Parts: sequence; structure tokens; C-alpha cells
Amino acid sequence: MMDLKELIGKREGENFELHREYLNPFLVRVLEIIGYDVVYTRGKGAWLYDADGNRYLDFLSGYSVFNLGRNHPKVKAALMQVLELDRPNLVQMDCPLLAGILAQRLVEVVRRSFPGLDTVFFTNSGAEAVEGALKFARAATGRPRFLHLEHSFHGLTLGALSVNGDAYFRGGFGELLPATAIPMNDLAALERELKRGDVACFIAEPIQGKGVYVPDDDFLPAAQRLCRKYKALFVLDEVQTGFGRTGKFFCGEHWGLDPDIVTVAKTLSGGYVPVGAIIARRGVHRKVFRNLERAVVHSNTFGMNELAMAAGIATLEALEEEGLVARAAELGARFQAGLVALQQKYELVVDVRGKGLMLGIEFAPPRSLKLKAAWKGVEGVKRGLFAQLIVMALMREYRLLTQVSAHGVNIIKFLPPLIVGEEEIDYALEALDGVLAEAHRFPGGIWGLGKELVKAALSR
Ligand SMILES: Cc1ncc(COP(=O)(O)O)c(C=O)c1O
Repeated sequence: MMDLKELIGKREGENFELHREYLNPFLVRVLEIIGYDVVYTRGKGAWLYDADGNRYLDFLSGYSVFNLGRNHPKVKAALMQVLELDRPNLVQMDCPLLAGILAQRLVEVVRRSFPGLDTVFFTNSGAEAVEGALKFARAATGRPRFLHLEHSFHGLTLGALSVNGDAYFRGGFGELLPATAIPMNDLAALERELKRGDVACFIAEPIQGKGVYVPDDDFLPAAQRLCRKYKALFVLDEVQTGFGRTGKFFCGEHWGLDPDIVTVAKTLSGGYVPVGAIIARRGVHRKVFRNLERAVVHSNTFGMNELAMAAGIATLEALEEEGLVARAAELGARFQAGLVALQQKYELVVDVRGKGLMLGIEFAPPRSLKLKAAWKGVEGVKRGLFAQLIVMALMREYRLLTQVSAHGVNIIKFLPPLIVGEEEIDYALEALDGVLAEAHRFPGGIWGLGKELVKAALSR
């Protein structure tokens, strides 16, 4: 028998060497530069641990995979049972029971938010769910073009990349699908594009993951009405915002939306197994799977695998039993109020935004002369380095994991697991307060870190 514990015990610490050699050396370098080259040995709830027993508060949640926290006992138990039961997994020419049960339960919860949705197609990832949604939209409308928002992120496969709103990701991969970016809140631009009559769908994240941009309250409802008027589908990408993240089960609920397709992934399997789903109106689904001949016209090998399905069933139950959606709203309000207090205290903080436990804080150039010089010293080298400096300091001084929310922006995103307590929220606020206080002192510790970062950025 392979002894995994022994293997890990023997090789622990070789992580970065192995990745430098066989995976992505540049990612290794980035992690080293920003001090994220930690060898984690365990994860539980909102915390990660290293070999020395240090603990790290995880406000990244694997990009919102861990709404339930890491290694949730209920999901773990379900997975162990699947293994013990020697289930007839992936027969393929089959209709597996667990996929049917998860689809039924997903439709039940989705319909509380979006009553029009009633069919499910399982995928292996968020990007695959988006790819499928784009195909479904073409099949349902017979039209070729897609609309998306500026700053959008829907995954990095070629179709999903075509509706990406950031030149950084799009560049260097050749021609993409026909798609047009719309500025958020610009209904006139949206209508102008829809009027051309060639749009299959408008796809949007209800709150954008890159930058935590929240639309004006009237934008998405009006965008949905325009889509109906011009007979394009309205697709909501809830891959990151779904499953309670924003204080509602699905984020689109904040605006009473009624999309034609919703894409989900991430938290659906409680963070254990890749999974995703396209949840669509039956009318749309029927345009794809419309007769015997086209019964398998869109399919995949692993989508309905038993581990993902069992984890999904357990995850939906755990979210409900632990009241995590209401908890995200409640703790999110506490966190947001604390961030707003920091905004009032520190001139470098210009905005706090988001909903529930998907929050962002944005920095902008200081007004005071002394800080202006320090700011220029890092931001003059590369835009977004200041936020990276804050992320580095939060990690180095407080062992708090966060991330710069997009490429070249001074926005930090917080995605704590929904199971965090008040103490953890308060600890994160304390950490930010400490680091921001330092950032407002020049010369000082955090600006010293800046020198290291600038040196590394220049030596790329
Ligand atoms: C809104 C959104 N859609 C799609 C994706 C892609 O998901 P995956 O990384 O599972 O392909 C992401 C990933 O971050 C996302 O945030």
C-alpha cells in the first residue's frame, strides 16, 4: 500500500523546488518575492498551519472555494463514504443517482433565488461552466456574438477568455470569439450592442471578482430587461459570488434578478473536488439537447463523478444547517463597518465596497507631500505595487492571507470563509489598522518592504 503520510513526511519542504523544476518557476518566484512561499502542512476551518505550528488566517478561501472553511467534517465524511461504498462511478452510459439528487437539490435552492431555472449540467470547473453557457446561448439564439463587462473574469479557457475584460489575460493567445466589452452601468452602450441583433448573451458577474466592482442598483435589472427586449440571453456568473458569499444564497437575489442561465462552481464541492454546473431554463437546455440525435452533443467525462456529487450534496446541507448565508450577511456588515472606519482614519484608503463577505478596499495616491514621494517610489515602478505591499505586510506581520484583487490595481479583496467568527474579523481589522498606520508613516517599515519589492519588480 502506498503510505501517503510517509511520502508527505519524507518530501515535505521540497514544494517550491519541485514546482520550480516541473511546474511554473515564475509563480514560485512571485511567491518568494511577496513572502507567500510558506510550506503549509494542514488546514482547518479558517486557518492554515505550517510545520512549525504557526497559524495563518485565510481571507482568500482558495478564491471562494472554502465558504464552508477547510476540511469541513460533513463533506469529508460524505467523501469517505463514497470511497468505502465502492460506488459504480463514471459508468458513462448510465444515469448516476447522486448526480440526479444533487441536480434536484440544486434546482430547489436555485429556484428560491431564480424561479425560472430548472435544469442542470455538471462540469469540472467554473471556466467549463462558462464555456458551456456560451454554447447554450448560441444554440438557444442561433446568434454568434457575446457581450460582457469591462473588468470581467469568467475563467481562462478560450471561450471564457473571449468574455474576459482584462487585456492582461487576453493578450498573447491569438484570436478569440466575437465579443464586446460594455462599461459597467452603461445601459446605452449595452442597448446599442444588443440592437445589432447578433448577440447570443450578455454574461456578467453580479459583483466582479477582479476589483470587487458592484454595479449600481438599477443596472443589472435594466440589463436583464434589455436582453429580453432584444432576445439575447441574460447569463449570471455566480462562480465566485454563489453559495452565500455575498449574504444571499446567490448574489443576483440582491436585485431580484431572473437570469436565463446561472453558472456555479468553487464552493459547490466544499473545496475538495473540482465541480461546476450550468443551471438553465428548460427552454434553453432543450435547444441544446433537442432530440435523440443530439443527446450527447455537449458532455464531459468527469462532470458527474461521485466524489463531486456527494461533496455537493453535503455542502448544500452544511450551508443550510449552519445558517452560513445569514452569517455572511451579519459578519460582512461588521467587517464592512470596520473597513469604513479605517477609510475615515487613513487618507490612502479611498473606497470600501462589496456585499456580505466579499469585500474590497481601494487605495489611491496620498495628498500629503511626505507620503506622495513614498507612493511614487513604488507606484512609479509598477501600478498596483502599493496594494501588493499591504498584502505582503499583512502576511509578514500578521499571518493574514489576502490578495491584490486584479492586475495593476490598488485594490485588496477579502474572501473569508463564511464560518469565521467575530474574533477573526476583528483580528483582520486590527492587522489592517496596524499595517495602514505603518503605511502612513514615512520613512517606516512598510516602505522598507517596498524597496525590496521594487528591486524585485525591476529585476524581472
Ligand atoms: C466569476 C468566475 N467565473 C469563472 C471562474 C473560473 O473558474 P475556474 O477557475 O474553476 O475555471 C472564476 C474563477 O475565479 C470566477 O471567479
